[in-house]
Amino acid sequence: MKRKHSLVLVPLLGLSMALTACGSDDSGDSGDSGSGSDSGSEATGKIGVILPDTESSVRWESADRPALEAAFDEAGVEYDIQNAEGDAERMTQIADTMIGNGVTVLAIVNLDSESGAAIQEKAGSQGVATIDYDRLTLGGSAEYYVSFDNTVVGELQGQGLADCLGDKKANIVFLNGSPTDNNATLFAEGAHSVLDEISNYTVVGEQAVPDWDNEEAATIFQQLYTAADGKVDGVLAANDGLGGAAISILEGNGQAGKVPVTGQDATVEGLQNVLAGTQCMTVYKSATQEAQALADAAIALVNGEDAETTGVTEDTEGGREVPSILLEPQAITKDNVGDVIEDGGQKAEDVCTGEFADLCAEAGIS
Ligand code: BGC
Repeated sequence: MKRKHSLVLVPLLGLSMALTACGSDDSGDSGDSGSGSDSGSEATGKIGVILPDTESSVRWESADRPALEAAFDEAGVEYDIQNAEGDAERMTQIADTMIGNGVTVLAIVNLDSESGAAIQEKAGSQGVATIDYDRLTLGGSAEYYVSFDNTVVGELQGQGLADCLGDKKANIVFLNGSPTDNNATLFAEGAHSVLDEISNYTVVGEQAVPDWDNEEAATIFQQLYTAADGKVDGVLAANDGLGGAAISILEGNGQAGKVPVTGQDATVEGLQNVLAGTQCMTVYKSATQEAQALADAAIALVNGEDAETTGVTEDTEGGREVPSILLEPQAITKDNVGDVIEDGGQKAEDVCTGEFADLCAEAGIS
């Protein structure tokens, strides 16, 4: 059944003028249309977003979903946010249903480029515009790519690890993200560009973790650790989940806190590990900013306008330049965990529980 609602959308940058709050739900069958500001232009549209999973990072459900809901609610646009639960076929089915339900813009966080490109091609053939949210779909056809500068994310991780290690001779293990995630490639490239320049460092192991699976990451790290005879001085882990896996193995070997480990996403656990000193740093990527950028781009598409972009990203497989909105990531160490909390990226009450209360107080977080 196709359902379209007539919306009055606020101007792209005039979101502060909005709006009587409007509801939507996750089930895909309701969601009220917004009532608009008087300066908005008329548009008919509904935005579908498909998140990738709940396991590779807690960010998708705990940070992105609420941030997206808030951005769409504020814009007064109808939306439907679903999660593919790590299953590319399921993502395809959700996309089909969303298209059938009349979305005008479909944003996906692909689980791999091939399935993502197929979803986008089908959407395009039905007149539905697409956006790559967070992960670029290689060989895809998205109108826009909304993300952070992921090479910079890797550079911050590399620099963070170097800052924690200092000049000493050090053996480094890389625990990279999923080989099917273009971001993981960029993170690793960024980190290598920093660490490979430091002649005192030797990479003694490097492996990609399929689907960013945290449990498998622990097994892989254990193997790399054993293969290196336990002579590992630093771990470049691509996100907080993989970092946590490495820390658990280091703990079993009495090395947690002695061997710096990186991360990404500024999750509650990641920030707690940073405060405890078992993790050297994480990378904060504001979900509020990313969700807002997606909402702005999607609303522009709904209105038949061009979104404001920061540049283009080369799709090396499709041989095209994808108009992009790339945001700036921030390195977080023990010294500035409070920044994440001040920015609303996490709540102090979630981070500063139990044994972390004292550490928070020491770090000036309340
Ligand atoms: C995202 C990271 C996330 C990872 C696992 C990447 O594409 O950019 O923030 O930790 O996927 O979900």
